[in-house]
Amino acid sequence: MSGTLKVAIAGLGAVGASVARNLSEKQADHAKRTGRAIEITAVSARTKKDRGFDMSGIEWKDNPVELANGNADVVAELIGGDSGPALELVTAALKAGKHVVTANKALLAKHGEMLAELAEKANVRLRYEAAIAGAIPIVKVLREGLAANRASRVYGILNGTCNYIMTEMEETGADFDVTLKEAQRLGYAEADPGLDIGGFDAAHKLTLLSAIAFGCPVNHDATYIEGVEKITSFDILAAREAGYRIKLLGIATREGDDILQRVHPCLIPQNSPVAKVDGVLNAVVTDCDYAGQSICIGRGAGGNPTASAVVADLLDIARGTAPCAVFGASREGRAESRFLTIDERTGKYFLRLTLSDKPGSVAAVTQILAAHGISLETVRQYGRNPKGAAPVILTTHEIKEKIMGEALAQIAQLPACEAAPLMIRVFKP
Ligand code: HSE
Repeated sequence: MSGTLKVAIAGLGAVGASVARNLSEKQADHAKRTGRAIEITAVSARTKKDRGFDMSGIEWKDNPVELANGNADVVAELIGGDSGPALELVTAALKAGKHVVTANKALLAKHGEMLAELAEKANVRLRYEAAIAGAIPIVKVLREGLAANRASRVYGILNGTCNYIMTEMEETGADFDVTLKEAQRLGYAEADPGLDIGGFDAAHKLTLLSAIAFGCPVNHDATYIEGVEKITSFDILAAREAGYRIKLLGIATREGDDILQRVHPCLIPQNSPVAKVDGVLNAVVTDCDYAGQSICIGRGAGGNPTASAVVADLLDIARGTAPCAVFGASREGRAESRFLTIDERTGKYFLRLTLSDKPGSVAAVTQILAAHGISLETVRQYGRNPKGAAPVILTTHEIKEKIMGEALAQIAQLPACEAAPLMIRVFKP
């Protein structure tokens, strides 16, 4: 490889502007590392304003899709969204024989298979380190550093907003809505937080991690998704008293050819490394046959951390060392896999019930559990409320989720059950 690598940037928000600044400020260092100059030749954004880098000599396009056919070797797509201009631009750029670097997890989770086929056919790179856990170089770790291994599990804290909210609720005792508003005030949560707190953002990332770790197709429809909206500070307190912390985890497991992809709140033993990852930080843990367990912790969001991963991809392309197969193995080479549903999970459960505080309430519940073969580890009522209801926390031994779900549906119908029950899965690190 030689000559200048020409880069077009679509989207100059916090990430795009930071990428441009990094490429300008560190021009000399990058050239020493890659042996090539890297030049921004064109940009596109919604508004023209100063973003802290010199725009002179850089072509401006109002329509980002036009960058696909412009004077660039690589297009950095930093617009976001799983359709519209981002999809049009990436598709057109790959078809035009340009390399693409993107931070867009939603786009890849939905269209990853189609885009990988385009990139592999055109023999160009499609790189997305920034799409999963921001600055943490987990794509490189899985695809290159752990390439000698067969992975059996990859899991982690994949959404900083949720991790911040869970951490704050535990520290302050404030409830979910109050904590979310505070997170929005501080700029940690989006004005429209649905993608984050609903678990969807983490699910996009987990779907991609699963494909890279297991060599399976990118199958977002197979990912079970549950958010953190129903978790109360009382749940967090009760979990803590039982020796756990509550966090939103993305978990992909493989047994034989069976793959289960899931995102949901979990009780995690307090002494496990991932339970100690707090605030906006992300963490990704990999379990592999030769390497054993590895854990990476870092910043999963924000302009500069995300730009760090985008620029690393650009430098790889400049070096010419980036492997071609988008998800680690070529589309033809990726294994046929069977994706399991959450019903097939076996594990322990934490149940929060709101029961009439009178004789026989817990007995009615335990009768249903016993009839389903569900054995209890702990039962505890919190407080006393003879004229009303009181929270009762139960933890179970291991049982298949399908059976747990059936029992819980019956418990919800009991006259003694005065509010919808909540079930949280217990995670075994
Ligand atoms: N909003 C995400 C988070 C980062 O809170 O982690 C971008 O995916």
